[in-house]
Amino acid sequence: MEERRRSDLASLVPELQGQLSDIEQQFTIRTDDLKRITERFEEELREGLEKHGANISMHATWVFGHPTGQEKGQYLTLDLGGTNLRVCWVTLKGEGNEVDVEESSYLLPDGVKSESADTLWDLITDSLDRFLQEHHLGGDPDHPLPLGFTFSYPADQDRIDHGKLKTWTKGFHIKGVEGRDVAAQLRDAISKKNLPIELVALVNDTTGALIASSYTDPDTIIGAIFGTGCNAAYVEDVGSIQKLKTQLPPGTPMAINCEYGAFDNSHRVLPRTKYDVDVDATSSKPGEQTFEKMSAGLYLGEILRLILLDLHDQGLVFPAQHLPRLREPYTIDTALLSALENESPTSSKAQLAEVVSAQSSEEDSIVCRHLAEVIATRGARLCTCGVAAICRMKNIRSGHVAADGSVANKHPKFKIRWANALGEILDWPADREHDPITITSAEDGSGLGAAIISAMTLQRKMDGHCT
Ligand code: GLC
Repeated sequence: MEERRRSDLASLVPELQGQLSDIEQQFTIRTDDLKRITERFEEELREGLEKHGANISMHATWVFGHPTGQEKGQYLTLDLGGTNLRVCWVTLKGEGNEVDVEESSYLLPDGVKSESADTLWDLITDSLDRFLQEHHLGGDPDHPLPLGFTFSYPADQDRIDHGKLKTWTKGFHIKGVEGRDVAAQLRDAISKKNLPIELVALVNDTTGALIASSYTDPDTIIGAIFGTGCNAAYVEDVGSIQKLKTQLPPGTPMAINCEYGAFDNSHRVLPRTKYDVDVDATSSKPGEQTFEKMSAGLYLGEILRLILLDLHDQGLVFPAQHLPRLREPYTIDTALLSALENESPTSSKAQLAEVVSAQSSEEDSIVCRHLAEVIATRGARLCTCGVAAICRMKNIRSGHVAADGSVANKHPKFKIRWANALGEILDWPADREHDPITITSAEDGSGLGAAIISAMTLQRKMDGHCT
């Protein structure tokens, strides 16, 4: 921590200093903690490859290895995000990775996360319909437009155009989808509306990021999302996926969507604080996504809110103010943590007034900035463990981790903290000239990635493969 921050903290009343240092202790992940967590992480990744029902589910994606860069054709893509539906029309020109993307976003109304499945699929097919009209896209029943659907939730796939939702994550809890084939549900909704569209591939956002980034950068080893949720995909040898019953010969490369947000659901290694326990207990899915709830964007702001509320109830921050917004779950977004760490004290005050309607004194701003740093640092350091464990397991010594998501892209210090922690885990010398494994900005996984995967899938079918 910077000297200035330390002296700011020293200006606080002793009781507050004591509490903050206690919180900092609980949130600190030291090098030996990182190593211990990564070791267990590797065990859980291996368990996921071995058997069904492990914490980390290691989903087979039926995406066979990296793209050649020569993939061609025109594809529709659809991405179901947390706040938007994004639809693209992607043209892959097949030469020198040239691509053209037309896109539109449609707002997902607020309550949709807890609506019925029919409402969700209606919204999606209405948006697809609008997109076809707005972009003058034809297609007929004999020549439907191929669609790559990015569905960023854990889905068990028997084939690439199939996926049984294991459980909703990231605060979604739409009824009638868990345990069902989401590809079949979308296909039915498309055919009810008579849209000239054929679902070709169901893709996780991590796999999309991996493939889109490999298309332009052959050194890509992992596609990772550090955003609302937290997860990664990499390429595995089919022969090492012991749980997979398949005729495919060992040596066949296949992308694995790890779904490692569920790491340590049995609570063996992660040092959970009472705030983490609270985030979990009050979530729509208690007991699930333990790792994600300590490290991903959806939850970092909520952890900050819970700590501030705790200190406020003791009269230690925002004293004597009535703050109903601070009592509302999920009022604080990760953007506030980024702003607090990035900005001047004056704009921190403005942000706190806007987000929780609090009038903050100089001391309140110091506390908030300190907590934002402590929470985001723990998150970034934990995020490194998943990637380090994949590298250890696969004996990967160098390459690029193509990362996407709001935390990776918008938090001012995420990447540097992540990189430092990776060096600590992998014992890189302190005086190294460069890092052998680096974090890069992923290419557009849900547009470009889903289109390339659709192209790879159609090519495979044309080559006579049945999976
Ligand atoms: C959650 C989802 C996972 C996704 C990740 C990042 O962990 O379960 O499928 O990849 O968020 O969006």
